Amino acid sequence: MADLLKLGVLISGNGSNLQSIIDHVEQGKLKAAIKIVISNNPDAFGIQRAQKHKIKTAILKQKDFKSKEELDQNIIKILQENSVDLIVLAGFMRIISPALLKAFPHRIMNIHPALLPSFPGLHAQKQAFDYGVKLTGCTVHFVDEGVDTGPIIIQAVVPVYDHDTQEALTERILKEEHRIYPQAIQLFADGKLQIQGRKVLIKSTVEKTIKPLCNPPLTGF
Ligand code: GAR
Repeated sequence: MADLLKLGVLISGNGSNLQSIIDHVEQGKLKAAIKIVISNNPDAFGIQRAQKHKIKTAILKQKDFKSKEELDQNIIKILQENSVDLIVLAGFMRIISPALLKAFPHRIMNIHPALLPSFPGLHAQKQAFDYGVKLTGCTVHFVDEGVDTGPIIIQAVVPVYDHDTQEALTERILKEEHRIYPQAIQLFADGKLQIQGRKVLIKSTVEKTIKPLCNPPLTGF
């Protein structure tokens, strides 16, 4: 059997995406191994999730380091010591430094709770809700030097209802995040992702037609 793809998951908070990845790995649906979970927040609930599943964890607080660069050098060291193939950002609320990008070229993924390039940055669900879009969603993309600007791997569309609340919308998006992130990682593990400029092509898959989605649904048009 080929070696399993080795993941390093970086978190800052609740870690529900981490949990989804753990669950998919344990169910044998995602053929990868989580080698290390790193948090920049000692109170992140995701650390407890990892420990419950006997996954190694590391906490690196900015205040323990002289600079952002020094913290990132330490993150790189831990990832390399654990032979990580792919870095998975799962609610990691920190900008990735050029040094980390250089150490893991095209090997860092992020999930964002909006249909990029709409609503990048913080509070994407609120941004979409306040803007009044009828459809929003989530995006898994490779990380580049910008904020939420890297080549897009997969997106899921989520409706926004007239009488929605921001909380309900956030939950609805999160549910889809938990489905598309493991899928994106499996595509990477299978060597199926081919980056061509801004585009990520999915190798050797038969493209299926997807029905366009309207919200509100059309009434016979
Ligand atoms: C998720 O909604 C993720 O998309 C978002 O933070 C949340 C983390 O939840 N990430 C960003 O906004 C990054 N810009 P989780 O800790 O439960 O996985």
